[in-house]
Amino acid sequence: MKISKLVGYQVLDSRGRPTVAASLTLTDGSTHTARVPSGASTGAHEAKELRDVGGKFAEKFYSGLSVQQAVSNINEYIAPKLIEEQIDLETIDNQLVLLDPSEDHSKLGANATLAVSLAGAIAAAHSQNRSLARFFNPEGVLNIPMPMVNILSGGAHANRSLDIQDVLIIPKGAKSFTEALSWIVAIREMAAKLGKAAGHTTNLIADEGGLAIAFDSTEKACNFVITAIEKVGLKVGSDVSLALDIASTQFFDGNKYNLTNLNKSFSKEEFIKYINNLVSNLPIISIEDPFAEDDWSSWSEFMQISPKNLQILGDDLLTTNLTRLNRAITEKSANSILIKANQNGLVSSTLNVLKQARANNFNTVVSARSGENEDSWLADLATGWSAGQIKVGSTHGSERNSKWNRLLELEAIEKTKFINPFN
Ligand code: PGA
Ligand code: ZN
Repeated sequence: MKISKLVGYQVLDSRGRPTVAASLTLTDGSTHTARVPSGASTGAHEAKELRDVGGKFAEKFYSGLSVQQAVSNINEYIAPKLIEEQIDLETIDNQLVLLDPSEDHSKLGANATLAVSLAGAIAAAHSQNRSLARFFNPEGVLNIPMPMVNILSGGAHANRSLDIQDVLIIPKGAKSFTEALSWIVAIREMAAKLGKAAGHTTNLIADEGGLAIAFDSTEKACNFVITAIEKVGLKVGSDVSLALDIASTQFFDGNKYNLTNLNKSFSKEEFIKYINNLVSNLPIISIEDPFAEDDWSSWSEFMQISPKNLQILGDDLLTTNLTRLNRAITEKSANSILIKANQNGLVSSTLNVLKQARANNFNTVVSARSGENEDSWLADLATGWSAGQIKVGSTHGSERNSKWNRLLELEAIEKTKFINPFN
């Protein structure tokens, strides 16, 4: 089967900002569309997302955020090279690399390359009469990932109502994804109720659907979530544990870690101790970006003193980038990686990063972005790649629930196993 048509165009994401969509039509008449996500607390080392800041493509009413340059790159440069080609993910990704050999995809824009690469993967799966999950894992049992879900949000996603970005929960005692999700929804609802009773403005929903309830300290925020877990009748530790996304690049000034709500600044050494106290004294099993994206020495020092079995997760540190992952492996900077396709720019090289991480005993967490859309390919990638974990935000908003619902669908219709990386 061949590609007969490829069209890029601008659509809206969950924040109402423009993002890139690509629709790829095959010679059997079917059309396959992918829309790309976008971050807000983006790492400096991510692949380059093209936005029309100034220049001839800038649209008046999108505040410099339109993506018409990236769209034009799909229609002017990419489409003519792919039309008439056999539908095949490797062919498409190789062609994208030929057209833009830069590591960060800055010439075409990673939002352009990823839209085409994803639409290509979805179309290739169709050409084999398979779902996207089955395209990557055709035979046997599909591994449904353990979710990591926002309850409280702060940082760049919620007007800094918390110093850190997220307090999340991991339902590690659940026997199935279906059960896990029912626990999560109950805990989120309980947290909203408790917040309201305590006089917080709980109608404020953060970018990823978490509750934007203000706390001046991370300990207080964690204890609030612990109370919510206990109040729904679940056991903290055996049923549900906590995870934090510190997103510390956001408050590191090159020298000090500045926690504004706590009204305290920490030197690197002090912040390592502070983080170690948090994870030692609270039921936290995963910590993301505890240190800034280029503060490599703090990461490796923390790895040496941190509790055994703690998941130390690199997001801004690693940006789904093979070179940075290899450095982290050599320097023992982390033991887990967040996998975000749009940090990388291509489906096949995102998978290569995940494979390299797994080969080096890293946990892998496939992740959405704060700017999302209704697509559910993320659930298929996490499952088809046997990632082990998935992070999508909260259980609020269809751009989040489309991913959870796809996992529910896979668990209902396929032969599956619910993965627990924390056993
Ligand atoms: P972002 O946040 O999508 O705004 O970068 C998500 C995260 O930090 O995990
Ligand atoms: Zn993060």
